[in-house]
Amino acid sequence: MAVERTLAILKPDCVRKNLQGEVLSRIQKAGFRVLGFRQMRLTPQTAGAFYAVHRGRPFYDGLVEFMSSGPCVPIALEKENAVADFRKLIGATDPKDAEPGTIRKLFADNKGENIVHGSDSPENGRIEVAFFFSESDLV
Ligand code: RTP
Ligand code: MG
Repeated sequence: MAVERTLAILKPDCVRKNLQGEVLSRIQKAGFRVLGFRQMRLTPQTAGAFYAVHRGRPFYDGLVEFMSSGPCVPIALEKENAVADFRKLIGATDPKDAEPGTIRKLFADNKGENIVHGSDSPENGRIEVAFFFSESDLV
């Protein structure tokens, strides 16, 4: 299997609940290498650009508002089969549908506030890592 990069974002609800360490610990125990992480607050413009693929969908404005509502923690991760393995670790978008033991099932309140983002393809993994990190920051 190929080594891939994927971008996680610990979303504002994760930070508000003080769960950054708990969630990162589960990510590391699942075998992901941390190449970079930072805590920052997204502007609505930056959040909107990051989720631009969803522009026009009914949930887009709420998503942008939520993602810019407080600090979040983008994390660049690397692992064999990282994209699929990470999405398995976090579970379905709506925690109601997520498998037991997944991060969203354990910690998320609802489909909108679902604790963590994960890239959805290896190509988007590289694009999204580059959205938040320059190559020289990845170590
Ligand atoms: P993410 O991109 O954040 O990892 O989430 P995802 O792939 O599991 O889901 P995606 O379809 O990409 O949707 C992005 C985020 O938008 C919110 N959403 N709300 N109310 C709704 O029907 C709805 N659908 C999506 C979620 O917060 C989701 O994580
Ligand atoms: Mg997505």
